[in-house]
Amino acid sequence: MLNKNCTIAKLGEPILREKAKKVKEINSPEIQDIITKMLHCVKQSKGVGLAAPQIFESYQILIISSHPNERYPNAPLLKDEVLINPKIINKSKEKEKGWEGCLSIPGIRALVPRHINIEVEYTSVDGNIKQVIFEDFIARIFQHEFDHLVGKVYIDRVEDNIDIISEELYFKII
Ligand code: NI
Repeated sequence: MLNKNCTIAKLGEPILREKAKKVKEINSPEIQDIITKMLHCVKQSKGVGLAAPQIFESYQILIISSHPNERYPNAPLLKDEVLINPKIINKSKEKEKGWEGCLSIPGIRALVPRHINIEVEYTSVDGNIKQVIFEDFIARIFQHEFDHLVGKVYIDRVEDNIDIISEELYFKII
């Protein structure tokens, strides 16, 4: 029976600093259960993305779930996409700073420089290899979630501690 308890791994949990394992059998019950749980938990936690290590599953799976909600009022509306074993093929030289938060690091937001465009290859839930170019906020979500698969978190990318603010203040300024 699938455990739908969405306990999110918080900063300090060793799993957030590990390199996630490659998925070998997409159709295995274990992987299918993890994907179902991730889709459920990203909604319940009001995230715009989620990576498997955040629910204590060290696999290369991430979800982009962009839609406006209370945590991200300006997020564009997009269908949920599950990306398995994602790889970065290409990225724009140009970076842009933008606000990020993370379910694993509650209470703060920070300005993070990210590539504006990023070309990605991944396996979809139906087992097809896809190549996609993500732009702007979606490229930002991808880069944030991809970091979770290689043991990084967004505050590692912050240029200056002055770019980190409390979430309470963030909601006052946006
Ligand atoms: Ni995160």
